Amino acid sequence: MRTQVGIVGAGPAGLLLSHLLALRGIDSVVVEIRSRAYCEARQRAGILEHGSVRLLRDAGLAGRLDRQGLEHGGIYLQFDGERHHVDFRALTGRTVTVYAQTEVVKDLIAERITRGGHIEFEVTDTEVDRLDTDQPVLRYTDASGTRHEVVCDAIAGCDGFHGICRPRIPAELLKVTERGYPYAWLGILADVPPSTDELIYSHHKNGFALHSLRSPTVSRLYLQVDPDESIDNWSDQRIWDELQRRFELPGSVWRLEVGPVLDKSITPMRSFVATPMRYGRMFLAGDAAHIVPPTGAKGLNLAIADVAVLAPALDWLLRGKLELADAYTATCMDRVWRATHFSWWMTTMLHRTPGADDMEAALQQSQLRYVSSSRAAATSLAENYTGYPELRYKKD
Ligand code: FAD
Ligand code: PHB
Repeated sequence: MRTQVGIVGAGPAGLLLSHLLALRGIDSVVVEIRSRAYCEARQRAGILEHGSVRLLRDAGLAGRLDRQGLEHGGIYLQFDGERHHVDFRALTGRTVTVYAQTEVVKDLIAERITRGGHIEFEVTDTEVDRLDTDQPVLRYTDASGTRHEVVCDAIAGCDGFHGICRPRIPAELLKVTERGYPYAWLGILADVPPSTDELIYSHHKNGFALHSLRSPTVSRLYLQVDPDESIDNWSDQRIWDELQRRFELPGSVWRLEVGPVLDKSITPMRSFVATPMRYGRMFLAGDAAHIVPPTGAKGLNLAIADVAVLAPALDWLLRGKLELADAYTATCMDRVWRATHFSWWMTTMLHRTPGADDMEAALQQSQLRYVSSSRAAATSLAENYTGYPELRYKKD
């Protein structure tokens, strides 16, 4: 088989790249180990930056996003029994949109399939090879058991943190900068209308909690838990009781509505950046190259931003112009490091470190009070949360 770009992974990065390449008349094959149903149901991120929404709109992908996405003009920061609004619209003129990653993935798969795109689900034994030649190959076994070899002009490793592409970069060339955190998030999806008009990020002595949402009838909530915590220790009742405690506002009539839990899982947290994002004719994008803790809502947006840079770079490369491909890592790293810092800052400001002394909580509260009372500090949070640098997707 022959294609121009072989893409490993049908997450947001791989699917969007395949679509942006198709808009430029470039064909690709996407291979994915999971089933289509699994990819469309996997609960992950929920917030699209201003620039991500505009890119999806410009790429003709925003039909349902524009109808069902919920535009949010700010967030609440809760600490010390008070809830403060950070008004993104007033501070930056920009907003974010609540539209789940599951929906972005469904829209992308539907669009690729309608336009005759080639996606192979449920593949096994994916391999990428001859990466330092101008004819790299992608090998996989399809769902019926047939082995394929696809000769490509370039390969995109969009296969997430545990994928097979990043390990193909020779160890002596790969630089990894990494940090773990002594906590994880227990996330639930609940069949109950959100108890808030905008997301609530709550600092509490028992640990962080986040109230997010998926739609006017479905809520998404998170609790900070220990990284080695087992989901079996958390009955639905225990989860709701702890959420009530961490969102409680003494003296207020506000209350958290409770409903059936549709999904629950625990996600570890880490910051991870690998460079270079390119080896020969293989390019990494999204979680394959970098991971941030979810407190800044950046993971999905970074995956979108990477492929917005990669699509024109590959277009040029296929026409013999190397400048954008050569600049790919450096172009992405500016945004990746900004998001890595912002996500680390939000995370360490809001979570309780097990065993921490009183100093940690006092410093966090001082910082939270500063961010909620100083226009300069609030603008910095708003600018980063809504997307900095602002994503501008150029067709050429
Ligand atoms: P992925 O979405 O991981 O897609 C990679 C794809 O490659 C997957 O479909 C995988 O099955 C496939 N694949 C892997 N190996 C192979 C192989 N060998 N062959 C073929 N295919 C392969 N971000 C937030 O902002 N908020 C959140 O709440 C949040 N929650 C998260 C929860 C979890 C459990 C995880 C893992 C991430 C979460 N993130 C969150 C981060 C965000 O979802 C990711 O940044 C985003 O999914 C990145 O997209 P991607 O396409 O780069 O990678
Ligand atoms: C989500 O809705 O899943 C979500 C929202 C904001 C975050 C992280 C996750 O910071």
